[in-house]
Amino acid sequence: MNQLTINEVGPRDGLQNQSRLISADDKLRLISLLVEAGLRHIEVSSFVSPTAVPQMADADELFLSLSDATGRSNGAHFSALVPNLRGLARAQQAGVREIAVVLAATETMNQRNINMSLTEARHVSADTVRAATAAGLRTKAYLAVAFECPFEGVVAADTVLRLAHEMIEAGADEIVIADTIGAAGPKAVSHLMRGCVSAFGSAKVSVHLHDTRGMAIANAWAALEVGVRKFDSSLGGLGGCPFAPGAAGNLATEDLVLLARQCGLETGVDMGRLRVAVKMAETLTGLRLGGRSNAWLDRQDQIATVGDAQVEAACI
Ligand code: COA
Ligand code: ZN
Repeated sequence: MNQLTINEVGPRDGLQNQSRLISADDKLRLISLLVEAGLRHIEVSSFVSPTAVPQMADADELFLSLSDATGRSNGAHFSALVPNLRGLARAQQAGVREIAVVLAATETMNQRNINMSLTEARHVSADTVRAATAAGLRTKAYLAVAFECPFEGVVAADTVLRLAHEMIEAGADEIVIADTIGAAGPKAVSHLMRGCVSAFGSAKVSVHLHDTRGMAIANAWAALEVGVRKFDSSLGGLGGCPFAPGAAGNLATEDLVLLARQCGLETGVDMGRLRVAVKMAETLTGLRLGGRSNAWLDRQDQIATVGDAQVEAACI
């Protein structure tokens, strides 16, 4: 298996935290650039309360436009996050074919994120997965704060595995283990992801990493080493969770693509085109974006533009 599947979460996890409101048209242009860059799995938005996350209030409009524009998807799968049955109903109305529920591994994080107790969140997530599956939708279940919670500290791997089992039993096609605040290290990632791959098989397991402590790429490598082949990432490292203090940017899609390339794994992503999308995200958000490989990638662009000799001369 020499394929690495990337689920691009920039339009949802990347934008949800931005204070500058971005128009649906701009989001659609960004999504088109991501599709052109070869990304085939894109988390477009979330059907959550618009009061809780104003930036995602246009989820319905986005999906209706995406399904209207014939040929726009170019084979891409567009998914959405839904917190409850109300969100699922909205998603179905907008023509969504793939949804994800979010279950945090701790009591406090569920309360802060979706205003539910852990028990309530388990039931609501399982009910939502069951209803979506019955309606023929593909379903994923995020296990948020799977390594460390900003309110309750380190989370035991067994707790996460137990919750993941519940979601798989409810019918989830995939579980996504999320280091929501970017607190995990490679050893913890290796341990939990090995457990998930051995329990569910790598086709049903994905990982969602943040780069808060600069560990995202090391953690991605740890996950790769234990057989994980599905990763979330965000263009330019854009991201953060409004309800998890300390959460910073996601693993940058550019860094993940480069890691895959250096390990001989295919992603189908065109780096040049991806960087065009990153530039647009910079314009939209007013942020300086780019993964850890950014400086090196910039240099490759320069070399391609002015030729080797001149760049070398300029460096002396
Ligand atoms: N979409 C839109 N509106 C929704 C909704 C949904 N999926 N679910 C509930 N609502 C509305 C209700 O209709 C109600 O509206 P009203 O005040 O106009 O009557 C209001 O939201 C409150 O509903 P309630 O059931 O009491 O929910 P709540 O206030 O406990 O909020 C969530 C629960 C899940 C809707 C809310 O916490 C949420 O959207 N969280 C988003 C979390 C998130 O996106 N985190 C980042 C990604 S992990
Ligand atoms: Zn995230």
